[in-house]
Amino acid sequence: MWIFIAFLILLPIAFAGLSLAPYVPTFPSDKKRLLDILPNEEKKFLEVGCGLGDVSLWVAKNYPEYQVTALEIAFPLYVVAKLRAIVSGQKNLTILYKNALKYDFSPYDIIYIYGLPENMDKKILPKYEQEMQTGSLLISYVFTL
Ligand SMILES: C[S@@+](CC[C@H](N)C(=O)[O-])C[C@H]1O[C@@H](n2cnc3c(N)ncnc32)[C@H](O)[C@@H]1O
Repeated sequence: MWIFIAFLILLPIAFAGLSLAPYVPTFPSDKKRLLDILPNEEKKFLEVGCGLGDVSLWVAKNYPEYQVTALEIAFPLYVVAKLRAIVSGQKNLTILYKNALKYDFSPYDIIYIYGLPENMDKKILPKYEQEMQTGSLLISYVFTL
């Protein structure tokens, strides 16, 4: 029974790893480095693959003028992120259970993503070039495009 439940939880997380990257969180102290990058004015911020929601929660709290949207494809991670967003009471944060590769990037000023290099080049770069507006910002954690 427990093995079955563990399987149900781990399988979607493993499959998500094939799409952009397996779940590995941004290092906590690196979230603070965003203070040097993010502008202090109204922005639409998107996190592609939010995992348990740490980065989006942090951005929503520290930038109340932002509208923060976070996408997650692995259902168990999405549920935890969604619950954390509800408990936090952050009104400027929306967590969505969505495949980022089928999601329109064009309304967003800033996109944050932590994906594997090959997937970034093949799957994210074309969306960046086709959908993101001039002057918008793509922040790729760890890997360069
Ligand atoms: C490396 S983790 C980064 C988690 C979080 N962004 C952070 O930096 O702490 C990548 C996340 O993207 C999710 N993911 C992978 N492919 C995805 C897709 N096509 N759409 C949405 N989320 C995806 C994974 O489930 C995983 O939670």
